[in-house]
Amino acid sequence: MKPSLGNLSRSFSRLKKNLIIAIDGPSASGKSTVAHLLAKKLGYLYLDTGAMYRALTLKALKNKIDIEDEDALYQLAETTKISLKQNPDFTKVKVYLDGEDVTSQIRSRLVNKWVSPISTVKKLREKMVEQQREIAKGRGVVAEGRDMGTVVFPQAEVKIFLVASIKERIHRRWKEYQQRGISCSEKEIEKEIQRRDQIDSQREVSPLRKAEDAIIIDNTNFGISETLQKIWEIVEKKVK
Ligand code: DC
Repeated sequence: MKPSLGNLSRSFSRLKKNLIIAIDGPSASGKSTVAHLLAKKLGYLYLDTGAMYRALTLKALKNKIDIEDEDALYQLAETTKISLKQNPDFTKVKVYLDGEDVTSQIRSRLVNKWVSPISTVKKLREKMVEQQREIAKGRGVVAEGRDMGTVVFPQAEVKIFLVASIKERIHRRWKEYQQRGISCSEKEIEKEIQRRDQIDSQREVSPLRKAEDAIIIDNTNFGISETLQKIWEIVEKKVK
């Protein structure tokens, strides 16, 4: 029998403790959907760190900052206020950049193109990591990104490394673009994903990497509730 989200909800409500659940993995591996749902089920904060890098990238593009200029990017990170606001019912998370709602702007193809190179900058990452730890202080968090388990929250009680085949990831991104009315061929998406994988996993600072104590979940053939069920089994084992 496939797990249903309803059955899972009853188990989730038993978890009272404030944990840090770190979910890392490459683009389009399904992290956002499950991390958001899991946070909602647990009543935890959903910390979408990719959204923070995206918001900063959007500002850098708007201000025409040279992406080679590390000091300018650091200055930018220092003087920018990024906030993630969760609805009281945990259904939506909005991203604010200096008070402006940029939730959809940060998902544009232009931001998709530049976010990986900008995220390689060491000083900028230091600032982001500081903010991410501050946001998570003293609360239950589902944190999603590339370096959650390795760098930002090495003490996280649960670490998941979520992967899926390249074909499946291309298909998921293509479906997402279709739903948002963005026209793009699968070939173009393949190039976009491969380029991001390469930059994210080969950069010097905090590359995309599985933490030693993280558990790999390959969700190529899983639906959302099956992936959530797998993560839940890992969480339950950890808190027993
Ligand atoms: O998860 P995402 O696709 O929204 O992330 C966008 C980019 O942000 C990703 O290609 C690399 C960067 N990123 C990062 O370097 N570290 C994180 N913790 C999260 C995202």
